[in-house]
Amino acid sequence: MEKRQHWDSRLIFIFAAIGSAAGLGNAWRFPYRAATNGGGAFLIPYFVALITAGIPLLIAEFAIGYKFRAGAPTALGKVKKGWEALGWWSVGVGFVIVTYYSVIMAWVFDYLWYSLSTAWGDAPADFFLNKVLHITSGPGELGGFSIPVLIGLVIAWIAVYWTIRDGVKSVGKVVKWTVPLPVIMLGILVIRALTLDGAVEGIRYYLDPDFSKLLDPKVWAGAYGQIFFSLSVAFAVMIAYASYLPKKSDITNNAIITALANCGISFMAGFAVFGTMGYMALQKGGTVADVAGSGGIGLAFWVYPEAIRLLPFGTVIFALVFYIMLLTLGIDSFFSIIEGVVAGVADKWQLNKKKTTRVVVLAGFVLSLLFATKGGLHWLDIVDKYINDYGVIGVAFFEVIAIGWVFKSKKLREFVNPISELKLGGWFDILLKFITPLALGGILIWNIVQEVIDVTKGNYYGGYPLWSVAVGGWIVAVVLIVASFILAKTKGKETLEEAPEKE
Ligand code: PFF
Repeated sequence: MEKRQHWDSRLIFIFAAIGSAAGLGNAWRFPYRAATNGGGAFLIPYFVALITAGIPLLIAEFAIGYKFRAGAPTALGKVKKGWEALGWWSVGVGFVIVTYYSVIMAWVFDYLWYSLSTAWGDAPADFFLNKVLHITSGPGELGGFSIPVLIGLVIAWIAVYWTIRDGVKSVGKVVKWTVPLPVIMLGILVIRALTLDGAVEGIRYYLDPDFSKLLDPKVWAGAYGQIFFSLSVAFAVMIAYASYLPKKSDITNNAIITALANCGISFMAGFAVFGTMGYMALQKGGTVADVAGSGGIGLAFWVYPEAIRLLPFGTVIFALVFYIMLLTLGIDSFFSIIEGVVAGVADKWQLNKKKTTRVVVLAGFVLSLLFATKGGLHWLDIVDKYINDYGVIGVAFFEVIAIGWVFKSKKLREFVNPISELKLGGWFDILLKFITPLALGGILIWNIVQEVIDVTKGNYYGGYPLWSVAVGGWIVAVVLIVASFILAKTKGKETLEEAPEKE
C-alpha cells in the first residue's frame, strides 16, 4: 500500500479548502443571486443556510475525512456498510460538475488571450456567442466542436493534470499562489469599481433590501443551493481533502475559517461586479438591472467586457486582471473535484494514485468534450440546473442523515472537540440531526414539486425541449444513482489506517 500523503501545513490545507470553495460561483453566482433575490435581505437566508447547513456539513465532512483517512465512498462505507453508495453518488455529482466547469475554465483561458487585444471589440455578446462558441439553435444541434473552446479545454486539463500529478504535494505548491492571487485581483477590481461614477447606484441595486422576497421559498432554496455549491460540500471534495490532514489537526476552526473566507470573497465580488454595472448604466443610459442582464456566464463573458470597454483608461489591464482573477479562482475548484474523484477510486481499490489521476483526468476530458461543441452551452445550462437542484441537495440530505444519525453527531463531537480549538456543544446535535435535514428535505421536496408542476404545465427548464431536459437532467440523475449502487457493491481492498477515537 502507498503511504498516505499529508498536507505540508495547516495553512496549506486551509488554502486548498478555500481554493476549492472560492471559485467561479463566487464571482458570478453570488452577486446576481443576491441582487435579484432581495438584495441586502438575501443575506438573511444566505447566512441562515450557512449556519444551519453549510458550516455543520463542512465540519462533518472534514471530520469523517480526517477520521477514516479515505475518500468519500470508503469513508462513508466505514460509517456504515451500505452508505458507501452515497459516497459514490457525491463523487458522481462532482464528476458531472467538473465536465462542464472545465469548459467554463476553457473559455477563461481563451479570454486571457483575447484580453490582450480586447478581441471582442464593441460587440462582446456577439463575439462570445457567435465567434467563440458558434452557438447552435438548441440542444438538438451539436454542430461539431468550437475550435477556440477545444484549444482552451486542452490547456485547462493539462494545467489541472500538472497541478495534481503529485497529489497534495504539488497541489500545496500551486494553492500558495492561486488562493491569494485572486483576492488581490478582486481587491483591485473593487477599488476600481468603487471609484467610478455611478458605482453607488450599482451597489444600491446589489444591496438595497427587499424583505418581501423572503416570503418566497425559491429564494430560500436558492440560498441553500448557493451555499453548497460555493462551499464545495456534498461533492466528495472536502472529505478527500481532510483525509490528507496529519494527525491532531484542527477540524472545527478550519471549517469556520474556510466558510467565512469563502463567503467574504463572494460578498466582495458583489462590489466589484455591481460597482462596475452602476458605471455602465450611467455611461449607456438605463438602469443597473437593464445593463446587468441575468448574470451567470453572461456576466463574465460579455457584460463585464462591455463594462471595461467603456472605462476611461486601462481596458486591457482590467480585462487581464479580471480573467486572471477568474482563472486563479476557478482552477483550484476545478482540480479539487478531480482530487475528490481520484481519492474515491484509489482508496477503494488501493490503486496507485498517479495512475488513477491519469485515468480520471482522461475520462473527465473526454466527457467534457460534449460541452465544447457548438451546442454545448445549452447542455451546460441544463446539466448545471439539475445537478445542483437535485444531485447536490440530495447528496447533502443523505449525508447529514449518515453522519448525524448513523455515525451520530454526539460521537462526532467527542471525536472532534479534543483536537479542535472551538468546541462543539449539544446545540450541534440539534443542528445536524434536525434542523439541517429538515431544511434540506424541505427544499428537495419543494424542488421536486415545482418540477412536476412545471412539467405538467409544459414549462420545461429554460424553454428547452422535453427530451433534452429528460436526458441532461433526469437520466443523468438516474444513471448516477444506479452507478453508485453498482460501484458500492463491487469488492474493494481493505487496508486503510484509521485515526484513533481519541488522540
Ligand atoms: N465551490 C466552487 C465555486 O463556487 O465555484 C465550485 C465547486 C468546486 C463545486 C468544487 C463543487 C466542487 F466540488
